[in-house]
Amino acid sequence: MTDFPLPPNATIGIVGGGQLGRMSAMAAARLGYRCHIYTPEPDAPASQVAFRTTLADYDDTAALARFADSVDVITFEFENVSFEGLSLLAEHRPVLPGPEILRISQDRVAEKRFLNSACIRTTPWAQVETLADLRSAMSHLGLPAVLKTTRLGYDGKGQALIRAPSEAELAYSLLHPKPLILEAFVDFSAECSTIVARGKDGRAVAFDTVENRHRNHILDLTLAPAPFAAEIRAEAQSMALRIAEHIDLVGLLAVEFFVDANGAVLANEIAPRPHNSGHWTIDACPVSQFEMQIRAVAGLFLPPAIRHSDAVMKNLVGPDEIVLWPQIVATPGLIPHHYGKIHARPGRKLGHVNVLFPYGSLPGQFGIAAALGVLAPSTI
Ligand SMILES: Nc1ncnc2c1ncn2[C@@H]1O[C@H](COP(=O)(O)OP(=O)(O)O)[C@@H](O)[C@H]1O
Ligand SMILES: [Mg+2]
Repeated sequence: MTDFPLPPNATIGIVGGGQLGRMSAMAAARLGYRCHIYTPEPDAPASQVAFRTTLADYDDTAALARFADSVDVITFEFENVSFEGLSLLAEHRPVLPGPEILRISQDRVAEKRFLNSACIRTTPWAQVETLADLRSAMSHLGLPAVLKTTRLGYDGKGQALIRAPSEAELAYSLLHPKPLILEAFVDFSAECSTIVARGKDGRAVAFDTVENRHRNHILDLTLAPAPFAAEIRAEAQSMALRIAEHIDLVGLLAVEFFVDANGAVLANEIAPRPHNSGHWTIDACPVSQFEMQIRAVAGLFLPPAIRHSDAVMKNLVGPDEIVLWPQIVATPGLIPHHYGKIHARPGRKLGHVNVLFPYGSLPGQFGIAAALGVLAPSTI
């Protein structure tokens, strides 16, 4: 039996050993909790800062059961743990957010169905199993459209843009036989996201909506707050809060949105865990997304998700950017975060940098470039 709120020295189990788990474990430590990481990866970024690690595969049922029995509550930082694995854990200890939420967010069709059932607008979409399904989906959604695998996509992987009917067969052959979804292409003016936390008592808080800019399909920059109309930011926040309520979230949830050319906000994806677009909260908010997650799963009070500064977050991706680390740590104003990964493969997220600005004074692109200094040329 787990009693909430968890007292100091209780142990929080985190499934997944990446940088998100590392930053959650650091936030948990500040609140006096110990973290036990479950990961198949030796020397994982989260293990380096945690109390204990179980090194085992995600489908090792005996190891999962032992792990669950050794902790007070379980959360996750990695989205592709199987629903079965999390359900097994949930037989032993509370898993927060609940496994059902993960089941929905792991599958783009279940996710879109859920969002639409909660009256949350998305781009029009259709499930695709056969080439004939794809042709009929193209005829009613129109082109261009994006064909995606329903599962295991990240950083734009498992996607193909279809601009003309003649491109359909190639796109299909690249992604088939995985289950697929076709989405109408959104000619977006910006991408943004909002992170919400919700407690066992139903109290929910939402961080400010931020703008996300990608490079090579990988998040490059987050601007907090998103530099567009306050109504758009508020609309995204209220949609994220509605989603959290509808899904009965206990924990943290990120929602990615498109803002279309008319300023309409469409939900794209949900992730029931800390999110890369929330890393700015570590330095620009009294309570970060990671502390908010730990507070929510530990049953602690959720303080308002306020921001004391404007901020820009720049990801450090691959060897070309991490090589700048000595200059980064020698530049006043750049707040560095390193994930402790030893292998700097191209496309791998190795760290990030936050830059703060006084509240209400996020500059335009030249000011951001100036503030990023050595990191600017590749981004602006
Ligand atoms: N329907 C769409 N219309 C336009 N761009 C899209 C669409 N779907 C995805 N994208 C682009 O591809 C990126 C990655 O897609 P997303 O669905 O978020 O998958 P993931 O982040 O899991 O790779 C988005 O951030 C966006 O830039
Ligand atoms: Mg995404």
